[in-house]
Formats: sequence, C-alpha cells, structure tokens
Amino acid sequence: MTEYKLALVGFGGVNRALAQLIAERNEQWKTELGFTLKIVGVTDLFLGSIIGREGLDAGVLTRLPAAKGALAQLPGGEATALNEAVIKDSGADIIVEATFTNPVDGEPATSFCRWALEGGKHVVTTNKGPIALHGSELKALARRNNVAFEYEGSVMSGTPVIRLARQALAGSSIGGFEGILNGTSNFVLTSMEGGLGFAEAVAKAQELGYAEADPTADVEGHDVRLKVVILANELLDAKLTVSDVTCSGISSLSLGDIEQARQDGARWKLIGAAKRQADGSISASVEPRLLSNDHPLASVCGATNAVSFSTGLLGAVTVSGPGAGRTETAFALLSDIISIHQSRAHNQE
Ligand code: HSE
Repeated sequence: MTEYKLALVGFGGVNRALAQLIAERNEQWKTELGFTLKIVGVTDLFLGSIIGREGLDAGVLTRLPAAKGALAQLPGGEATALNEAVIKDSGADIIVEATFTNPVDGEPATSFCRWALEGGKHVVTTNKGPIALHGSELKALARRNNVAFEYEGSVMSGTPVIRLARQALAGSSIGGFEGILNGTSNFVLTSMEGGLGFAEAVAKAQELGYAEADPTADVEGHDVRLKVVILANELLDAKLTVSDVTCSGISSLSLGDIEQARQDGARWKLIGAAKRQADGSISASVEPRLLSNDHPLASVCGATNAVSFSTGLLGAVTVSGPGAGRTETAFALLSDIISIHQSRAHNQE
C-alpha cells in the first residue's frame, strides 16, 4: 500500500480540514484511492511547528487550540515556525502549502514552494500568490527536479476547473472564459439582494471563512485578478502578469443599484474574463457586470462560483460549484495528491 508523507505548511482552516479528512477517511482511501496519508510535519507562523517522522496523530492536530505557539503543547513541538526544517528535513514526500495569499510578491509561500521543489519534493498548494506571480519559474523548477507542482485549489477551491480544462477539454480549442471566481463578493452581492448592508455582508463572509485575510482583496477584485492570470496562463497559454488585467470591484455598488437591477430583470455580478483576440493577444478584465436574468451566470448565487469556457468544438462549457470554504479547499489538495498518485502509477506501468 502506498503511503505519502505530508508536511503541512500553514495550519489555518484549510490544512486543518485536510487533517480532519485524514483522521476520518484514511482507512476508506486505502480501497477507494489506493493510498494513505501520513502527516510528518506541521509549521505555522502563529502556532509554531512540529516534526514527527513516524507520523503525527491527525485527530490530535485538528483539536489543537488556535493559540500562539500552541504546537509547543505537543511532545516535540516548538512555539516557533521552523519552516525550513519542516519542509526540508521532516522526510515528507509532499509539501502541502496552504498559507495566506500575498498578492504583492507571493511571499513567504513562494520561498516555501522553491525550497520544496529544489529538495525534490512534490508541492500541492491552494495559494494564488506563487502561481499568479511566479508560476512559470516554479513549474520549470518542478520539471527540472522531476516532481509535481499542483494547484487545483487556487481557483474555485475543490470544484475542478484547472485539471478539467487542461485534461478533459484538451483539444477543444478554448478561446476564452468568463466566470464568477470570488465566493466572498458573490456572497456579498446575493446578501445585498436580500437587503443586507455591504459591511454586514462582508463580516458574514469572514465568519464563514470565505474571505481573504484582508477582504479588500475580495471586494475590490484583486483576488479574481490573480485567478484570471492563473487561468489565462494555464488554459490560453498567455503570459499575463497581474498588471495586464484591468480591475474594478463591487464596493461602489449600493443597495439602490442592486434593487434597480432587480426591477430591470438583471443582476450585478463580479466577472473575471479573458479572451484570445483575432491578433492572438489575450485581453483580460475583472469588473462588475449587469447580467440579465437569462444569462447562465446570473443564477449563480451565494459563495458558489462558476466559470464558462468558450470552446471551438463544444461551444460554452460551464462548471459551477463551491469557490471557497475550508473543507472544499482541502478537497482540492486531496485531488492534487490523487493526481500525483495517478501519474506515479502511470509512470510505473
Ligand atoms: N477569498 C476567496 C473567495 C477564497 O472568497 O473566493 C477562495 O480563493
């Protein structure tokens, strides 16, 4: 039976949810997926770090209090985050990076990914920063070191988008996409349609764990801009940087605008889009758009996300599902690990 050893980098909601899945489902995965997972290290800037080469108890980890230095309460744990030691020396096969997204330079997550890939370890991440800002460098580094770099959860959490488009839609001639790619802002817009004020709706999204550490990134479109860069570079073979994507958010929309849209049979949605132009260049934007109620994306409500790919051979192909949430994003990490397992099995055939 294959067992993958994981080091969890960042132990906030997402990696805690992954630990919970491991605690509950490892046995079931033996038969369902053909592998089990063992946590051999955890590091977190707030909680500290721990290495346990023989395996740490996933259930114990999930019950850890969210208190500064809490990992020091476990035998062998430290109050400080020994990131480099956990990534390089815990004996992990796969580094599971789920720290906060830094939209400015992608750090410290990008360095965590570099250390892991240079050390010949697979990386799975939910972090938009390293991919949107340093994706081509990290992918090249993974190729050189013959390891995987997977990031399905960076766009639409566990709802399959990147792998779906890359694998199942390969050859369909994707010419562009438009999507609702931020759960928080869609949740805020839907809540405002129900009469809730903007600030209360944002606070509720924070409570539910959808929002970024700084929710400005959600409501001003910066989070969607990173996702548009990731999707465009991945699926349209673009070479976009963040500044190539025009960006405006939803903070200027009032309850009055939303009510007016309702009366007109329409809805405001924050849309991230990219399109291949006739000259081959890629144009990309993030902006609130007024969609009439019969538009396929108009009925996507709450924290749900959706993306519609325009393909040459199939026309529009739309996928909709959760775009945020702890367990939903943890599932994306599992799907990345499954992908690594399947490629490994394929290479051994
Ligand atoms: N803050 C993001 C959202 C999380 O609301 O969609 C997922 O990227």
